[in-house]
Amino acid sequence: MTMTSPAPGEARSPGLSYQDLHKNDSRPVPEVLRWVNWEFMGDTDIPVAAYTNREWHELEKEKIWKRVWQMACREEDVPNVGDTLRYDICENSILVVRTAPDTVKAFHNVCLHRGRLLREFDGPANELRCPFHGFCWNLDGSLKQVPCEWDFPHVEKDEWNLPEVRVGTWGGFVFINMDPNAESLESFLGDFPWHFERWPLEKRYKSVHVAKIFPTNWKVVQDAFSEAFHVVATHPQLLSSIGDANSQYDWKGNYSRAITPNGTPSPHIKYVPTQQEMFDAVADKRLDEEPSVVLPPGVTAREMFGNGGRATMHDVLGDKADDFCDAEFSDSIYYTLFPNFHPWGAFNRICYRFRPYEDRHDMSIMECMYLEPYDESKPKPPAAPIHWLGVDDDWAEAPELGNLARVFNQDTFNLPKVQRGLRAMTKPGVTLANYQETKIRHVHMLMNRWFQKP
Ligand code: FES
Ligand SMILES: [Fe+2]
Repeated sequence: MTMTSPAPGEARSPGLSYQDLHKNDSRPVPEVLRWVNWEFMGDTDIPVAAYTNREWHELEKEKIWKRVWQMACREEDVPNVGDTLRYDICENSILVVRTAPDTVKAFHNVCLHRGRLLREFDGPANELRCPFHGFCWNLDGSLKQVPCEWDFPHVEKDEWNLPEVRVGTWGGFVFINMDPNAESLESFLGDFPWHFERWPLEKRYKSVHVAKIFPTNWKVVQDAFSEAFHVVATHPQLLSSIGDANSQYDWKGNYSRAITPNGTPSPHIKYVPTQQEMFDAVADKRLDEEPSVVLPPGVTAREMFGNGGRATMHDVLGDKADDFCDAEFSDSIYYTLFPNFHPWGAFNRICYRFRPYEDRHDMSIMECMYLEPYDESKPKPPAAPIHWLGVDDDWAEAPELGNLARVFNQDTFNLPKVQRGLRAMTKPGVTLANYQETKIRHVHMLMNRWFQKP
C-alpha cells in the first residue's frame, strides 16, 4: 500500500459523486438527499452457510423472525372493521384483523382447540370461527363460543383469548412482532421515518402487488436488489444513463439506503452520451423509434425528468409539486429496514419485501408493490390483491409491473444459479465489495448481532 492509498472502504469510483451531481439540480436539493452516513463495517467474508445451511435458517427463525418487527401488510389491505389478512413467516402464521375503525390487532392464526389454522384466506369476517369443530372468537380475540360447551368444563372462557401479537404502524404499513418483550416499533425505527417526511408513504395506496416464488434462500434474492454493482453485467442496456458505480450507500441503526442516479453516464462507458441519449435510455426508447420528448436546448435529462415528474405530481400535490428537485424524480433511492423491508424514496413507487417461502431455507418469496399517490380529496382506492407467480413463471406474466418486468427477468435469471453455485462452493465465504455492497453487509452485521442476543 502506498502512502496515498485510501483506507479500506474509502475508495470511490471515478466519475461524478452523487453529491457533486446536486450542483446542477434546477431546484434546491433537500437535506435528506444531502445526507451522507457511511462507516467501514469490515471486509470479512460472509459464510456460505448463511445461504445454504438449514441450521442457519433455524437460527434466523428463533433469533430474528420470532423477535423482530416486520412488515405484515398495508393498512389499506384491511380497510374495514372485520377485514382480515394472513401473514406467514416460516412456521408462524399471523392473522391481522381490523377490530375497530382505528384499531388493527394481530393474533397467532391458530385454533386453540386442536390447532387447525384458523383462517386460510384474507377477507372480511364478523367472527373468527374454526372450520373444524366450530370454536369461535370475536374479532377482538375474546372467546365467543365453544361448541358442546358441556364437554369442556375445563375451558376457562376468560383465559381462552387468541394469543395476541404486537402491532405497530408506520407509513401506512402494519408491522407485527411476536416477541412481547421487544422494543417498541418507534424505537426500532429510530430516525428512519425522517427519511420519508417529504414523501409520506401513508399518503399512498397499494396499486400493484406481485409475489414470486424462488428456488433460493431469501437472502440470495434480497442481496440482488441491494446494490447497483450488478448493472454493468446484468443490465448493460442501462449504462448510457445510470451512475451505477457512482451510487451512494449509507447506513445507520437498523436501516441502510442506496441512491443510484439516473440521467448521468455510467463511469464504465467510454463515450460521452448526449443529454437526449440519456433521456431516451431512461424513457426506454427503442432504437427504431423517435424520441418521445425532444429536450429543449440547455435542458438536461435530469431536469426533464424533474419537469415531467413535477407536472404529473401537480395533479396530486398542487403547487407544492414545484418544490421537488430533479433528483427526486430522477434517482433510484432504495432503503432497507432490517431484516427484509425495502421501500423506495421520493416518487418512485417501488416497495419490496423478501422472506422465506413457508419454512424453507432454500425457497423464498419476493414481493414487489407499487405505492401510488392518489387524490386525497377522494377516498383511498382499494389495495391491489397479491398476484402470485410460481417458480417457473416469467415476471412478464404480471403486466401490471410495466417495463420493470423485463428488468426483473434480468435480475432474477442468475439467482437459481447462485444458489446452485453456493452449494458447490469450496471457498467458505462470499466476498463483498467494501462500499458498493454496503447494504448486504449491513444486514449480515445486524443478523450476527441478533444471533448473539440472549
Ligand atoms: S381444531 Fe379448531 S375447532 Fe377443533
Ligand atoms: Fe438490477
